[in-house]
Amino acid sequence: MYTYSTYIKYLAPLIIVIIIGVFVINVATHGTIQHPGKPLYTKHCEQCHGEKGEGIRSLVPPLAQADFASTNFDSLPCWITNGISRPITVNGQLFDQPMYGIKLDEVQTANIISYMNDEFLKTDRTANSIWVKKQ
Ligand code: HEC
Repeated sequence: MYTYSTYIKYLAPLIIVIIIGVFVINVATHGTIQHPGKPLYTKHCEQCHGEKGEGIRSLVPPLAQADFASTNFDSLPCWITNGISRPITVNGQLFDQPMYGIKLDEVQTANIISYMNDEFLKTDRTANSIWVKKQ
């Protein structure tokens, strides 16, 4: 006969194993857990700066190992919010097309900057919404 204690003893661990199994299969089939900034980058930045942050020839500057963005890291929230429209030199190349501001909240801005830094800039800086608000 199935009593409540048999249920706790056998069924509960089985359910836990199934939950962990589904999680492991999910991670295995989807690679790693996705960075929260990735879908935002794809939606708002990728059409110009490229999937790998490579930019577009002399029209859009690269983000991959970009010296300009790395040395002006604290300006990133402002550039994303307000855009940039002045001649800038990125990794030795001059760019002079305007980038328009993009409407995002502080958390989204922080997630995009964090993703951009981890994938492309690779500085030791981090980004969060409190820092974004202060800039
Ligand atoms: C419509 C195309 C376009 C979109 C969309 C766009 N950018 Fe830009 N971005 C540019 C251009 C053009 C410049 C150069 C501006 C200048 O020369 O003044 C630039 C410059 C930059 C720079 C500084 C230069 C460098 O490469 O380090 C950063 C950082 C940057 N963009 C990040 C972003 C992020 C993050 C997003 C998405 C939230 C984004 N951009 C969306 C076109 C775009």
